[in-house]
Amino acid sequence: MKVIIASDHAGFELKEKIINQFKVDFEWVDNGTFSSESVDYPDFAHPLADKVSKGEFEYGILICGTGNGIGMTANKHANVRAALCWKKEIAELARQHNNANILVLPARFISDEDAFAVVKTFFSTAFEGGRHQRRVEKINIR
Ligand code: RB5
Repeated sequence: MKVIIASDHAGFELKEKIINQFKVDFEWVDNGTFSSESVDYPDFAHPLADKVSKGEFEYGILICGTGNGIGMTANKHANVRAALCWKKEIAELARQHNNANILVLPARFISDEDAFAVVKTFFSTAFEGGRHQRRVEKINIR
């Protein structure tokens, strides 16, 4: 599976670790940032969310310090359901109930081990549909 990933400077190191940890599991498209030099998270969230919104990628990962700024930005895009996940149970529910298509990670508040577990769970859990389908359809941007 092809997965697009991006971060700001606060998420840069974790982004590199995730790409390395799952290098044989996914085909990664790295949309930056490419160093720990300070950048603005919307400059990385918007291009990735736009690609997911248009269906160029089914799934993406976004990482910033808290996960909030980069996730808030991504969720401005139609068809994007970006979910901030810091433990695997939340990642599981984000997929099962919310059909999340962007995984958002809080680099400054999650261990590498937990982040890897979250990624693994997110990509191995299916949307349950049923009553959740109706709810997800109601999310649409107004
Ligand atoms: C950067 O210092 C930090 O503000 C950013 O990574 C993120 O946490 C914003 O929501």
